[in-house]
Amino acid sequence: MRMDILLGLQWGDEGKGKIVDAISPEYDVIARFQGGPNAGHSLEFNNVKHILHLIPSGIFHPGKLNIIGNGVVLDPAVFRKEIEELGPPVEELVKRLIISSRANLILPGHRILDSAYEHHKGNLKIGSTLKGIGPAYTDKAARNALRTGDIFRKDFLKLYHDHMNEHLRILKNYSFAYDNEEYEAGWFEGIELLKKFRIINTEYLINKMIEEGKRVLAEGAQGTLLDIDFGSYPFVTSSNTISAGACTGLGVPPARTGEVFGIFKAYCTRVGSGPFPTELFDETGERLRKRGCEFGSTTGRPRRCGWLDLPALKFAIMVNGVSRLILTKPDVLSGFDAIKVCTSYIIDGIRSDELPFSNDSVVEPVYQELPGWQEEISPVRGFKALPDSLRKYIRFIEEETGIPVTIISVGPDREEIIFR
Ligand code: GDP
Ligand code: IMO
Ligand code: MG
Repeated sequence: MRMDILLGLQWGDEGKGKIVDAISPEYDVIARFQGGPNAGHSLEFNNVKHILHLIPSGIFHPGKLNIIGNGVVLDPAVFRKEIEELGPPVEELVKRLIISSRANLILPGHRILDSAYEHHKGNLKIGSTLKGIGPAYTDKAARNALRTGDIFRKDFLKLYHDHMNEHLRILKNYSFAYDNEEYEAGWFEGIELLKKFRIINTEYLINKMIEEGKRVLAEGAQGTLLDIDFGSYPFVTSSNTISAGACTGLGVPPARTGEVFGIFKAYCTRVGSGPFPTELFDETGERLRKRGCEFGSTTGRPRRCGWLDLPALKFAIMVNGVSRLILTKPDVLSGFDAIKVCTSYIIDGIRSDELPFSNDSVVEPVYQELPGWQEEISPVRGFKALPDSLRKYIRFIEEETGIPVTIISVGPDREEIIFR
């Protein structure tokens, strides 16, 4: 077998959690490969909404193995809170969840530094989720990090304080006030909880399972346009969110990867700062935000909303090698007379299909208008029963991208989905 990869093609929040939960029955293993508690993956069943930050979205399926991979940065305080709020007892969860010994730890100092750096940037701030992601990956690349496997070391406490002292030393340059006491206590409780779970070299396990014919699904966080290399740098996250990140983030070679499922919303959203060519500042944007409940799952911030951006989607398909597309939230577009899709840009006065390198470029979207549909589509369960205009919209995207749309999500619930 090969490992399938599922990831976001826009700026995150495409509906990864919902889709991973919905297709988990087809897999034996669900493994997160990058990011950390900056992610907020929502899924809904039996009228209850769950939001996951670190834990893979296959966790609600008994009998499935979930893995937090080496590419993830893990905050023990967030982990503890998430485990406590999940529902199933810890004794049950330890059977379903395994953690890589190589996953880097987010230390309390990383969180404080994240806030201090953002505060210092003023108007140029990234709009980070302030979960310590940037500083944690910085320490990883600088070879200063503590990793999950280190929590069993006898000198762990000393190492922790050495790191904390170094972070405090950096913080002195930022005159930034903070209170760490309560957070640090929760962080250490998280360390104790982590010790109940299997913390192993997960790359051996995943490769063995692939060899044995088990079906593995790699779950991405954030989205392609937030990738540290290919996003609108510096307005990005600090990891590789693209399909290549699944190889480094889990220890699986490219030759062992299979389908790449790329998820995109029927329109676009972005939280935080950075370019967004199709952003709408009018009542249409407000309508998308309201109907789509576009408020951040992790921070509650209102998401910026705009029309679908095809050049950006094609770029994401290219760098990920997407083999199947998954469309989410077309139900939010019900009721529009016409729907706009950006098909190319005018960049600094010149027509182009490429995302610009510079964030200073003036990018004007060129739109094509397609007919809208009025029907509510959340109850629909078959492709043929969808309104004509929506089917045309989907075919238009397929023709433009050359990739089939194989799953259409028509609402937040697990059941609100159409497989083609
Ligand atoms: P993720 O980070 O990619 O997992 O996405 P989020 O969970 O942050 O944001 C997606 C939001 O849209 C969540 O509130 C989901 O419950 C919701 N959602 C997912 N799919 C659909 C859909 O097809 N229609 C509607 N209306 N909501 C959806
Ligand atoms: P999921 O997995 C949407 C954004 C932040 C900010 C930038 C950097 O739920 O799709 P960071 O905290 O990583 O330093 O923030 O990236 N961001 C996300 N936006 N969905 C996410 O995750 C995101 N994770 C980070 O808003 O602009
Ligand atoms: Mg999200």
